[in-house]
Amino acid sequence: MEEMKITVLDNACIFRDGKFHYGHLIIAGKYIEKVGSGSFENDSGSSEEMEYHDLNGKMILPGFANTHTHSPMVVFRGLEDFAPLSKWLRKVLKREAKLNSDSVYWFTLLAQMEMASKGITTFGDMYFHLDSMAKAVNEFGMKALLTRGLVDMDGNGRNRLMENLRELSLSGDRVRIGLGPHAPYTCSKEYLEEISNIAKSEGVKVMIHLLESPEEREDYTLRDLVETGIFETDLIGVHLVQVDEDDLRILKDYDVGIALCPVSNAKLWNGFPPVDRMMNMGLKLSVGTDGAASNNSLDVWKEFNYMALVARIVNEKFDVYALFSESFENGARILGFEDTGKIEEGYRADLTIVDSGKVSYFPNVPDRLISHILFSGNSGDVFATMVDGVWIYYDGNFPTVDENEIKRNALKEFERLEGWV
Ligand code: NI
Repeated sequence: MEEMKITVLDNACIFRDGKFHYGHLIIAGKYIEKVGSGSFENDSGSSEEMEYHDLNGKMILPGFANTHTHSPMVVFRGLEDFAPLSKWLRKVLKREAKLNSDSVYWFTLLAQMEMASKGITTFGDMYFHLDSMAKAVNEFGMKALLTRGLVDMDGNGRNRLMENLRELSLSGDRVRIGLGPHAPYTCSKEYLEEISNIAKSEGVKVMIHLLESPEEREDYTLRDLVETGIFETDLIGVHLVQVDEDDLRILKDYDVGIALCPVSNAKLWNGFPPVDRMMNMGLKLSVGTDGAASNNSLDVWKEFNYMALVARIVNEKFDVYALFSESFENGARILGFEDTGKIEEGYRADLTIVDSGKVSYFPNVPDRLISHILFSGNSGDVFATMVDGVWIYYDGNFPTVDENEIKRNALKEFERLEGWV
């Protein structure tokens, strides 16, 4: 039998229960074996292979969850920053039609490089060619809930749904497959009902965009969707910007997991979600970036910083410290991962290490560190990211993949989509 690898992360500021504590972690294989206080003392006398890191006061946080994105859309980043939605969509659709399983594979790897370098360990996605995406996630080493974007406006809804159903078999330990009805304005009620029935019988997650724009608000309310059964599924509702009291009540009554994407909402001129009200009602909140075509980065740090500041402008008084502290566990649960999002013995070693030795973290004392992360630091301070005890990002490098090969192939695919080659 292969010996279990032991990793020791010593002299760290560990984030637990909303506070930072000085201590060390012992990781055995995929799991956190011990959360210790003070410095590590090797008294085991064991001859097991041990990887020792003196973190010299760096912070250890649970891995960030990005609960909503469209990873392969990194190739559409910066395509149209100011065009009206219709023009933007035309340009994207023209290129999306040329995407194949190869391009989706390389772009999903590239997106994971970006996310891992910003401390993200787990993400929720809605796109297509899930086989290529699952392969990319398994190779890179992140965790993901992948859903196939489902639309029936063009008469091809059934084919897409059948494809999504076949892809359910790709589910495994780190990759989960769910159903991804795009939105109530691209899916008929009959289609949503069929999707809901299948999701319930298969016991899989459903991800859908809801009430993102003011125009959508004129089209439907959440109450209109109740009869489709969508809220009886294990549902992740994305955006929920244009919501009223009745919509919020439905989200609460059906215990819907919510992925807020505030930067994308701002960039597309859709408004700001009522985070204060949502938190007071005890809704299950998490943070997502949406795709790079509308954000334009896959950086959850930016989401928190932006939310904390804009809330003041729109007079939302929510506790951003609490939202931040809860987002790790909430995010993991919303995506269907049970034993992660928390630094606790027996939990998966899914961790983010942040270099709080940087001058922007001065004075570097435990009770100010959340404030420093939210208002002074940025994702460039992430030093390393670990999933299941394996480093997927470490000091500027990506140990599980060939960075240059990914960049080379992504560029080649970009040039093909643009019609340059
Ligand atoms: Ni989206």
